[in-house]
Formats: sequence, structure tokens, C-alpha cells
Amino acid sequence: MPKLHSDIRILATEHLQNAYAPYSGFRVSAVVVAKSGREYVGVNVENAAYPLSRCAEQVAVGAMVTGGDREIAMVLIHSTSSPPATPCGACRQVISEFATPDTPIICSNDAGEELRFTIGELLPAAFKLNE
Ligand code: THU
Repeated sequence: MPKLHSDIRILATEHLQNAYAPYSGFRVSAVVVAKSGREYVGVNVENAAYPLSRCAEQVAVGAMVTGGDREIAMVLIHSTSSPPATPCGACRQVISEFATPDTPIICSNDAGEELRFTIGELLPAAFKLNE
């Protein structure tokens, strides 16, 4: 499990206020660290048409791909929830596309609580398109 640099925590905490969550009131931020070392942040972006809302992890993965990276080294998911919120099923699949089963997923909150998993633990047997 790689060391979680404090700047990643700060990044996630600082961006939590940018989450657009007027409907649920539940703010989430995510930092995707690519194998290149670059860091990509995402927050949840809700919509009046509720199903169009996007999770923080999916926004962060989109930013990573936009930035030219394709391999995830680690994901930090931050919220005010206690225990810390874990990624939803859809986000587990989205992360799996660019991760390996041992990729660390760290879930934290403002109280300093932390849960650590690998994506393989959170989503065993992820869907892969094998032709
Ligand atoms: N949410 C995320 O951003 N990530 C997750 O993994 C689970 C849920 C967001 C979606 C919605 O805006 C709010 O949290 C409440 O479900």
C-alpha cells in the first residue's frame, strides 16, 4: 500500500466545498493519482434531472483520461460521512477499467477516519470485454 501523501488529503478536503450537491446535500471529492504521478480531482455534480448526476470518482477518472493518463495508481475518496463513504458500484466498475485488482482505494472523512481497500476487494470479477 503506497504512502498517502498529505497533499492528496489536502487536495480532496479543499475541493469538497466545490461539490455541486444541492439535491442530496452529500458532498464527495475524489483524487485519482495516475501512475505518472499526476493527480486529478473530481467532485460530484448533481442535476435537477436526478439520474444525470455524476459521482466524484467518475468526474476524476474523466479528468485523468482527458489529461492523457490511462493507469490509476491510487484513488482517495473524501466525504463528511462517518464511517467514510465507499465508492458506489458504478464507480467501482469505472475505476476498474484503468486499475489492477491491487490498486488501493482509500476512503476518508473530515474527522480523520480512513478505510483502506483494493479495487479487487471492492469489485471482484469486474466486467472486462474479452472478445
Ligand atoms: N456519490 C459520489 O459522488 N460517489 C459515490 O461513490 C457515491 C455517491 C454522490 C452521488 C450523489 O451526488 C451523492 O453522492 C448522494 O448519492
